[in-house]
Amino acid sequence: MKKELKKRTIPGPGSAELIKISGQHEPPCMADQLPVVWDHGEGVWVTDVDGNQYIDFTSGVLVTNLGHSHPHHVEAIQKQAERLMNCYSFPTPERVKLSQRIISLFPSNLDKIFLLTTGAEATEAALRIARRYTGKHEILSFYGGFHGRTYGPMGVAGSKGTRYQFGPPVPGGIMAPYANCYRCIYDKEYPGCDFYCIKQLDRIIDSSSSGDMGAVITEPYQGGAGFIFPPEGWLKELEQWAKKRGLLFIVDEVQSSFGRTGRMFMIEWEGVEPNMLCLGKGFGSGMPASALVGESKIFECMNRGEMSSTTGGNPLASAASWAVLDVLENEKLPQNALKVGDYLFKRLKELQEKHPLLGDVRGKGLVIGLEIVANRELKTPSPELTGKLIFRCGEYGMLLGRVGLHGNVIRIAPPLVITEEEAEMGVSIMDKALTEIENGVQ
Ligand SMILES: Cc1ncc(COP(=O)(O)O)c(C=O)c1O
Repeated sequence: MKKELKKRTIPGPGSAELIKISGQHEPPCMADQLPVVWDHGEGVWVTDVDGNQYIDFTSGVLVTNLGHSHPHHVEAIQKQAERLMNCYSFPTPERVKLSQRIISLFPSNLDKIFLLTTGAEATEAALRIARRYTGKHEILSFYGGFHGRTYGPMGVAGSKGTRYQFGPPVPGGIMAPYANCYRCIYDKEYPGCDFYCIKQLDRIIDSSSSGDMGAVITEPYQGGAGFIFPPEGWLKELEQWAKKRGLLFIVDEVQSSFGRTGRMFMIEWEGVEPNMLCLGKGFGSGMPASALVGESKIFECMNRGEMSSTTGGNPLASAASWAVLDVLENEKLPQNALKVGDYLFKRLKELQEKHPLLGDVRGKGLVIGLEIVANRELKTPSPELTGKLIFRCGEYGMLLGRVGLHGNVIRIAPPLVITEEEAEMGVSIMDKALTEIENGVQ
């Protein structure tokens, strides 16, 4: 679908009016986006209330993997809404069938699933179950890690944004450096480092643990910290280390799953077999749906009725997730993510050669981080220029998000239905915006 994208004023009058009203009722901590009020969407396109069209490189926040309002998804939701929407934890055909189908996609050790509603609910459940099953309260996690905004995940969060001024988190969180090769805390370089950061884990635990360490939780790539991709082999190395130490290995795929990195799940890239796996976001592609997948022997530590969730696995969300799997499989969206992702990555690397503001370009499939720096040599993070670039791209009709511990990483994560032609539109908008910013064009 080819669209003409003209420069527009942000916010348009309709957006400005609604944002003003929203400011009277919603606290500002809810608003960290371009001032654009979305009206409707189709595929990778979003139209705001003023009729401006945008190419969406956010997927919300890596949620709408099928694109906006995919007809098969919409039809499944509509049909289900007419039949039954909620029944608490009574089984329904939709829920039973979905559980069976999703479990069939995992390695055989992952044979049970709790259907839940949000990502934080899934990570919270993983942390609770890890404590109950192991009888130990300490959990290793990573600097920069993000696992949701409730109290359990806060205790294993490695960023100020999640913990700031909330007082003591749930005790037991012990933290280690993630494999952040662009800003390696140990000043090492891959592959010469030989996974030095993994080799340091024993030292970290032996010096900080009370001897009650039960599990390790990690994202396969760090989302909130700035789309940080560990080098190939790191996740496998971590898995082996955890298993050798007798720790449960929990992978938080709330963000990286359902085709985003070019495989249905990111653990597939390295053949990793965690003891528990957290899912969310793309699972419902817009409908609230999440899950905790795990091993029977672990889940059996929870007694009947101890894991209820008011809307988890409701028939509407289950029907929506079923349709998500249909579309991902029928339209080969993980493969498309890989193909268009490779193209986009190559083009963004070319932009990096031309634009000194692009300090680092990293990613896999359709999740790419652009680290914006004021000085490439010194890798000085520039949240100001990041904000400018996002705004300028918005004026030219491209929606982008921002992540990163320093607020200087642009998140590129379009719906997985994007074509190369649409990806190219985004690249040319970014090229134009970068050129204008570098030349001081107001
Ligand atoms: C890796 C990861 N885990 C957990 C969460 C929390 O998900 P939710 O916002 O649905 O609670 C997120 C959300 O960004 C995430 O990226």
